[in-house]
Amino acid sequence: MPGESSHHESAALIELPEGATHVWYAHPRALSHEDELDLLYTVLSPAEQARYWRFFAPKVRQEFCAAHAMLRLVLSRYLPVLPSEWQFTYAENGRPYISWPLDTGLHFNLTHTAGLVACVISHEPLIGIDVENIEREIGHEAIAERIFSRKELEEFDATAKSVKGHFFFTIWTLKEAFTKALGLGLSMPVQELSFHVEPGEVCFNHSGAIPLPPEWQFDLHDIGHHRLAVAQSGRELNVTYNELSWSKYRAVKQRYLLLTAPFAEGTQDR
Ligand SMILES: CC(C)(COP(=O)(O)OP(=O)(O)OC[C@H]1O[C@@H](n2cnc3c(N)ncnc32)[C@H](O)[C@@H]1OP(=O)(O)O)[C@@H](O)C(=O)NCCC(=O)NCCS
Repeated sequence: MPGESSHHESAALIELPEGATHVWYAHPRALSHEDELDLLYTVLSPAEQARYWRFFAPKVRQEFCAAHAMLRLVLSRYLPVLPSEWQFTYAENGRPYISWPLDTGLHFNLTHTAGLVACVISHEPLIGIDVENIEREIGHEAIAERIFSRKELEEFDATAKSVKGHFFFTIWTLKEAFTKALGLGLSMPVQELSFHVEPGEVCFNHSGAIPLPPEWQFDLHDIGHHRLAVAQSGRELNVTYNELSWSKYRAVKQRYLLLTAPFAEGTQDR
């Protein structure tokens, strides 16, 4: 558990040691009670609440709320700031940054998809995360043609049908995490990036046409049917994965806890 020795309700602040990277994830569909969602909604900013209501599908709304509330709850584990008080600003390509408090030394990236929300916290500004459900059928071949490098396509074509989805989403999440680390999103020519995964190792090459920081590290993690990738600039990447459980907030009477010392969780250390 990052910086915590035991599970207790009024959890102490967590330390993020230099060189450590913490991933937090949660299952939005485990929010079974209306009051749990209501409670999470209360920590969102007015702008986030307005975005929430713009989603038509209740499930998508729930995921959005879970993701943004989780981010606020998680950040408040590292600094004595109320979850509702964090302020964010957006760079040109839509990447959010912490704008208040100033100079926290914390950097994050957020991802959400059907059934899973996750965020990554690091001292390294160039940090990205992506999660996808590998059972999702989205016409892998046609998309691979557009986003995979020549080498990745060759490997994809040679991959057995039974594991093609896993391979496809491995490359997809690595590319997404990488472009998100740079804050570029879809403006990045992703065919010029090439990944090859060996057990315990992610090999990365790029065409050289794009000026990039020289050293990159990647990590892959499976959570049920979801594939999660983290990309970070630098020489080392030491990721700890932590699951956030909503059940801590079931009763509305726990509002006080939510607004002060949000949660203590189970973890999976690597
Ligand atoms: C916006 C984008 C950065 C990620 O989109 P996504 O994969 O649908 O969404 P994720 O859930 O992983 O991430 C969304 C979150 O990333 C953050 N984000 C938004 N723009 C970002 C950017 N330019 N860089 C980094 N993070 C960004 C936000 O927190 C956002 O959450 P919000 O929309 O609830 O505010 C962009 O890459 C995109 O639109 N991708 C579409 C997917 C695609 O075609 N990928 C090709 C495979 S490589």
